[in-house]
Amino acid sequence: MKFYSKDTKTALEAKDLAQFIAFGPVVFQVAKVARDRGILKVIEDSGSKGITIEEIVEKTKLPHYGVRVLLESSLGIGLVIINDEKYKLTKTGYFILHDPLTKVNMDFIHDVNYKGLFHLEEAIVEEKPAGLRELGNWPTIYEGLSQLPPHIQKSWFGFDHFFSDIAFPLVLKHVYKDGIKNILDIGGNTGKWAIASAKYRDDIHVTIVDLPGQANMAKKRIEELGLSDRVSFYPVNLLDEKQKLPKGADAIWMSQFLDCFSEKEIVSILKRCAEALDDNGYVLILEAFWDNQRFETAAFCLQQTSIYFTALANGNSQMYDSRVFIKCIHDAGFEIVEQVENIGLSHTLLKCKKSPLFPKGGT
Ligand SMILES: C[S@@+](CC[C@H](N)C(=O)[O-])C[C@H]1O[C@@H](n2cnc3c(N)ncnc32)[C@H](O)[C@@H]1O
Repeated sequence: MKFYSKDTKTALEAKDLAQFIAFGPVVFQVAKVARDRGILKVIEDSGSKGITIEEIVEKTKLPHYGVRVLLESSLGIGLVIINDEKYKLTKTGYFILHDPLTKVNMDFIHDVNYKGLFHLEEAIVEEKPAGLRELGNWPTIYEGLSQLPPHIQKSWFGFDHFFSDIAFPLVLKHVYKDGIKNILDIGGNTGKWAIASAKYRDDIHVTIVDLPGQANMAKKRIEELGLSDRVSFYPVNLLDEKQKLPKGADAIWMSQFLDCFSEKEIVSILKRCAEALDDNGYVLILEAFWDNQRFETAAFCLQQTSIYFTALANGNSQMYDSRVFIKCIHDAGFEIVEQVENIGLSHTLLKCKKSPLFPKGGT
């Protein structure tokens, strides 16, 4: 497999990395506090001259001791360098401060995941999102999404939307090129896809299918934008296998949705998609697969995001290996008629139709 077939590190490099892992939570918290408390910013502002610890204390209004330990830790992490008692920002420090991807990942890990990850071992053994109790008392995070405290909700949506906001404008032309006019958006969330679709062409109607909490949030947004005649709502919990999907759509769109489910649940949802569509209908899936990434760090981000699903979201889903995911598509009675890679940062579009080899309705 790409990236993972060789152990390329020297023993020394391997031991260095092992220490980075052992102190991982310390490294994370120091970088975040140095970012949030303005330490990295005042160092950056000092430019090539650099800045002393006394000046940093004065500008950040933080205690001298606190600034000292954060700076010494930041030297070891590689966020800053020091020459003649003056600190300067490194390239890594720059990315912690300014890189949007790093920022959404860091905020998501801190606000949504950090405390819950402590319960990972229990989540693995019990196959339950044991860390979710740190946020609230729901069976899955999705049932609690609309009730999360505002700063946690902001980080969750910031993370989710970061990837779809980049992918949606790029994927619209692929989705709507076959004359699709009436589309179900399962996992429609805050209505971003529905809004983008309504603005893309004026003959498109979107039905947002989501849990009642999210469907209500989306409804408010759609009303504010005056798009109520272009967008309908179908609140439902699709974990309940008895819940069907509305019939009559030309296509079903699922973006970053099926990764919220186990393989068995994915097959069940896709079979219900097959029941709702006629034989010419399309299922369009936008997903990020870790094995399809161009860059090793992109694969790393997806592999680590899987652990959010394990410890917090639902205890049984993940960012999938495309081979595992595609097997679910086939098991549900669909075939892939088109596959578009490298959409946005990390996404693949899978355009599926009911397989002629499969009994009618895909069941
Ligand atoms: C990760 S978000 C994806 C949002 C959006 N499609 C995007 O690409 O940005 C997953 C969405 O699926 C919805 N969802 C999760 N579990 C669900 C369930 N059991 N039934 C219906 N919708 C569900 C969530 O409420 C959420 O809006």
